[in-house]
This record gives sequence, C-alpha cells and structure tokens, in this order.
Amino acid sequence: MKTLHKLAPCFAAMMFLLPYQAAHAEAAKAKLPNVVILATGGTIAGAGASAANSATYQAAKVPVDKLIAGVPELSNIAQVRGEQVFQIASESFTNDHLLQLGKHVAELVKRSDVDGVVITHGTDTLEETAYFLNLVQRTDKPIVVVGSMRPGTAMSADGMLNLYNAVAVAGSKDSRGKGVLVAMNDEIHSGRDVSKAVNIKTEAFKSPWGPLGMVVEGKTYWFRLPAKRHTVNSEFDIKRINALPSVDIAYGYGNVTDTAYKAFAQQGAKAIIHAGTGNGSVAAKVVPALQDIRKSGVHVIRSSRVNAGGFVLRNAEQPDDKYDWVVAHDLNPQKARILASVALTKTQDSKELQRIFWEY
Ligand code: DGL
Repeated sequence: MKTLHKLAPCFAAMMFLLPYQAAHAEAAKAKLPNVVILATGGTIAGAGASAANSATYQAAKVPVDKLIAGVPELSNIAQVRGEQVFQIASESFTNDHLLQLGKHVAELVKRSDVDGVVITHGTDTLEETAYFLNLVQRTDKPIVVVGSMRPGTAMSADGMLNLYNAVAVAGSKDSRGKGVLVAMNDEIHSGRDVSKAVNIKTEAFKSPWGPLGMVVEGKTYWFRLPAKRHTVNSEFDIKRINALPSVDIAYGYGNVTDTAYKAFAQQGAKAIIHAGTGNGSVAAKVVPALQDIRKSGVHVIRSSRVNAGGFVLRNAEQPDDKYDWVVAHDLNPQKARILASVALTKTQDSKELQRIFWEY
C-alpha cells in the first residue's frame, strides 16, 4: 500500500504527460515528408517458392500495400501512401506504359501534399523508365526509381532496404533538383547514367561516370551532380507528349547482315539505334543499307555495345556528316532509344537530333 501511495504522483504525472506525448508524436509525424509509392511490379514485388530461391521466383506478385507493410520503418521517415499502377515484369514495359506512368507522375508532383515520388519497378528496364522520366518530368521534386535483385521471400532479400532507402531519398530536401534518381544497393544514381550491369547480384546497377551519392541509415550523402539537362531544364514535357515514335535497336557483331536494320525500317521505325562494335563501328556490308534507310527518312543513330565509360566519336571511323547520321555520345543503345523517341516528338532534323544527344 505504501509503495502504491509513493507511486501515485508518478502515475498522475504520466496521465498528465501522455496527451502531450501523443500530441508531440502527431506533430512530429505531420512534419515528415509526404511520399507516394507507385508500384509497377518486378522482382521487388516478386515471390519465390522458398527462402533459398534468390533467383528463381515469379516477379510482379506482391501488391503495393504489402510492400509498404513489409517495411514498417517507413513510417519513421515519411508519410507514405501507395498506388498500384501496373503489376508487370519490366521486360514487358511498352511505350504506352511509359506514357501512362509519366503522365501520372506529372499529376502527382503538381500536388502540394506530395513531396516526392518513389516508383518500384522491375530491374530489367528500370534504367529506361528512369531516363525517360528524367527527360520529361518538369519538376525539381525527387522522383526515385527502385527495384530489387532478390524477391522478398529470399534470404538476404534486398528489396526492403532498397525501398526504405528510396523513400528516404525521395523525402530528402537535398535530393531536389538532381533529376530522376535510382536508389539501389545503398547507392544513389542518376536516372540518365545508370544501367543494370550484372543480371544476378544485388550490386547490379552501375553508372559509367559513377553514382551521385549514397544513402545510409536513411541519410543521403552526395558526391556528384548531373552534368546533362534534365527535368526542370529539359525542353521536353510529358504533358505535351501523347505518343512515342517507334525506335528500334540493331546489334553489331562479326558476320552481321543488314537484315534487322531493313526489317525495322520496313516495320515503320522512325530511327534505328546501331549498337555498334567499339566506337559504334558499322560493318562495310551494312553501310549501303543504312545509307538507303537514311535516304528514306529514317534516322540512323550510332551507339556502342561497349558501355563502360566511353562515348561514340562523331566522324571518327564513319563519315557521319556525309551520311547524315547521328551519334549517341555516351548513351548505351537502350538509353539512346529512349532519347531518340522523345526527341522525335519535337524534331525530325538530324542536326537538332545531334544537339539533343550532346545536351541530354
Ligand atoms: N523480370 C524482371 C523484371 O521485372 C525481374 C528482374 C527484377 O525486377 O529484378 O525486370
């Protein structure tokens, strides 16, 4: 009885303080950034038969609300809400998916109650979606694309921490104005530069010029800034794009023929990306077909199948001026396809296309 009597003031104090603590917690939560998570599918939403299945699984199975529920720590760093935009493996992304996603993101970032957007995405074409959004989203709000290399059912799954990191980056004020970002494996990459370089490790994403920074325990650390035009200083605007011209990629290799290039042109490609050997070189027996293709009004854009920190030099081994061809600069073939498709919504002029490839 005596003990209870002694503890009474403590209980009284607690009863008095509890409402204030609750109000303080609510006030702290209200200060957290508002981040919308748009789910599109991929391995981050994948499920395998057992915890040992880190590479054998079905992608695009887990809905966005379960992804969010799987990382309760998100509520410590942001007020998140999720939307299931698609539920597909990203190798099946089409231009229509890019347009639909891009237009939805543009609507979201206009809202004053949205501070950042995270897009969960399959890793196969994540780099293409990130670059596309980097070109057409006229906002400085953080847009962060994230995936995972292992399904959430696997031992040492990487999706939970990748999602936590992506929300941390999207909710961080110092992520603003850096273009569309990709958060994978503790690194923050530019959506322009990053590509999937390894198909089966968690350290899968590489940028030829290096990541922009890192995110560790929910905090962002920056070391570089993008050099090329993006988002708010882009001349492209998703709100004015309702169709993406068809652009295809043909690979260069020993014993190559002109069959693929001709087929793409016949199928209506408005530009063909040549994924050339070395410096975007073109086999002698393919040059006549590419000259004819150019004369027919289809653009020829030389990229390189070599993608590790180099760039295709104009008029080096190929007389680009004479043939009226364009070079993709440092963009790999899949990135060059995205830029060519977006650029062709504004111009058919090869000199303008070349300017765009220098600047973006
Ligand atoms: N099917 C692949 C995709 O959706 C799985 C790869 C992944 O998401 O990591 O891109």
